Amino acid sequence: MSFNLKTSRFSKDFSEIIDRQFQKRDLHLHRLRRKGLKELEEVYGEIQSYGIPQKYVKKKLKGNIGYGIFLQVEADPILKGEIIALYTGQVILEAQMDADDGDYSFDVVTGLTLTQKEQKKFDPRRPFSPRRLYDIKVDATKIGNFTRFINHSHVPNIVAFLVDLPDAGYQILYKAQKKIRPGEQLLVNYEGEEESYWAPLGIKPYPMTPRTFCLRKSSTSFA
Ligand SMILES: C[S@@+](CC[C@H](N)C(=O)[O-])C[C@H]1O[C@@H](n2cnc3c(N)ncnc32)[C@H](O)[C@@H]1O
Repeated sequence: MSFNLKTSRFSKDFSEIIDRQFQKRDLHLHRLRRKGLKELEEVYGEIQSYGIPQKYVKKKLKGNIGYGIFLQVEADPILKGEIIALYTGQVILEAQMDADDGDYSFDVVTGLTLTQKEQKKFDPRRPFSPRRLYDIKVDATKIGNFTRFINHSHVPNIVAFLVDLPDAGYQILYKAQKKIRPGEQLLVNYEGEEESYWAPLGIKPYPMTPRTFCLRKSSTSFA
């Protein structure tokens, strides 16, 4: 398994399907300016060198939560709008009726309809049905980067956007939604408008805020 993947790869077909949905729903992509692209380049470099940028640390939490990502106690605060990284993984398209969502699956666009030609290509075993709904996801089960260890909260400090990068096409970008102080846990809300993450897993999420398991100064334990 490789967890230092810089970018995900959205095929030309998937990108066209996403374009069409964005036009249909009158949605707009998040834009990155030169400063953001430069920040992202620095993050790429750290991921490739260390797996996880040095200002973060991966820590095991209690119970079944597994690991989480924290801003090191000695690090500078992360300001609102700063780039965390791209959420990377394998890009997949699947029929909603087949959905067997893993823990590391991020919904990019849901409730898509496909043309006859697209269904023949991506879902060849079923007869064409213009109403069948599909989702495009980034799945970080087997490949991805440290962002796969970022846990869920209803009061997150990270927000995700779909961006179209000059050299890498569509990508999921994680940015700071508010100031992140040293020792705090990085948290993102896994659920969009549809509450689609936790119900199928049959888990009630632990109600964490960025400070619930805050790292303590001069110690590796939690406050
Ligand atoms: C993308 S992974 C996050 C990293 C994970 N903690 C690990 O160690 O691999 C998502 C999984 O983490 C756990 N998780 C994340 N946020 C949680 C929360 N608020 N409460 C309970 N479990 C959580 C759940 O098992 C969830 O399916």
